[in-house]
Amino acid sequence: MLTKLWLRLGTWLGTLIVMLIALGLISWAMATGWYAWQHRGPVSTQEEIPAGEAAMTQDTIQTAIKIVDQHRENTRYLRDAHAKAHGCVKAEVQVLTDLEPALRQGVFAEPGKTWQAVMRLSNGNAYPQFDSIRDARGMAIKLQAVPGTQLMPSQQGRNEQDFVMFNHPNFFVSDVAEYRQNIGAQADGKKVMAFFPSWNPKEWQVRHLFIALATLAPAPASPTQTTYFSVSPYKFGSVNAKYRVAPDPDSCPAYALPEQNQALPNFLRSALTRQLSTDRVPACFVLQIQRQNANRFMPIEDTSIEWRESDAPFETVARVTVPAQDFDTPSQNLACDNLSFSPWHGIEAHRPIGGINRLRKAVYDSISEYRHTRNAQQ
Ligand code: HEM
Repeated sequence: MLTKLWLRLGTWLGTLIVMLIALGLISWAMATGWYAWQHRGPVSTQEEIPAGEAAMTQDTIQTAIKIVDQHRENTRYLRDAHAKAHGCVKAEVQVLTDLEPALRQGVFAEPGKTWQAVMRLSNGNAYPQFDSIRDARGMAIKLQAVPGTQLMPSQQGRNEQDFVMFNHPNFFVSDVAEYRQNIGAQADGKKVMAFFPSWNPKEWQVRHLFIALATLAPAPASPTQTTYFSVSPYKFGSVNAKYRVAPDPDSCPAYALPEQNQALPNFLRSALTRQLSTDRVPACFVLQIQRQNANRFMPIEDTSIEWRESDAPFETVARVTVPAQDFDTPSQNLACDNLSFSPWHGIEAHRPIGGINRLRKAVYDSISEYRHTRNAQQ
């Protein structure tokens, strides 16, 4: 009798498990199908500016100032994001000598041309924390002596073209409204809950939470050993594009970085110093452009969407060389801190596009001015 009961219970449990697995598979297939349906081309090649963006931008500036104040390091005011630098180094950006004509745009118009540049390597956090803590890593490049009218009236005469990137291909928010909400919640001390703004499940940003978690990754062995992405799109002449800077060790002398002690707070700076200053070995990268194919799901107004390489390849337009050099001196580090990078420091051919870039126009300028003014007063 008892055996029969056990057998029946076993059959029921088995059936229940099979049904649950089937249900799970059906839900997964439906969700995948729904996601593919929602995220399919064609997409617009034009910017679409939602109502209320200007007001949301002003609100975000106030939050960013709050974050800068919260993270003040003793007396100096640091950046709202990417506060900690591993160093500012001199770099050379050489346009490919045999660049195909369609890719000869803006600062890449002249094959073989070499631009002198400054490169700032950083951790993403607003607080200068230990390098071993999971984080995004930033790279900002400023080409110098770039002719042509600058996008920002305040920048005329500076003759710069900046490329501002971090080492993950997509962003944890889609647009200005979401950034404002999320960063506001983070400034109030929320972390995971910043992605769950209300009890309404429709507003839960689970996919974006996963992007944020993936962005906060363990540190690379060196800032020269990871790939940096523009994340947001830009004009590239008359087309739209994203870009990235990827290590290209084959173009440099062979080098094996000795293992760094990752328990030290600034081991990424040590790695950079070891390669460039002690061992005197240059670091090489390629700068690559990914042109938008509007028939594929490569939207302009949603930075949470990675433009897939299977939809449009990255094409090398220039080589970036960081020569052997000494950079870790008090005066150079102060000069590095006093630099300002922005996607909007540049020329029309590389105009930033999309909501997150429109937001960055006002925020970078305001925060840069805020910290410079206060640091100058001290
Ligand atoms: C597309 C995604 C983004 C990327 C790839 C990115 C990357 C970076 C990098 C690398 C820096 C450091 C630049 C330097 O070395 O000086 C930086 C700074 C900064 N970022 Fe972003 N960022 C992104 C989005 C945003 C957004 C949406 C905001 C806010 C609206 C923002 C606000 C700032 C601010 C205020 C600074 C400091 C500016 C200064 O004081 O000079 N970023 N960002």
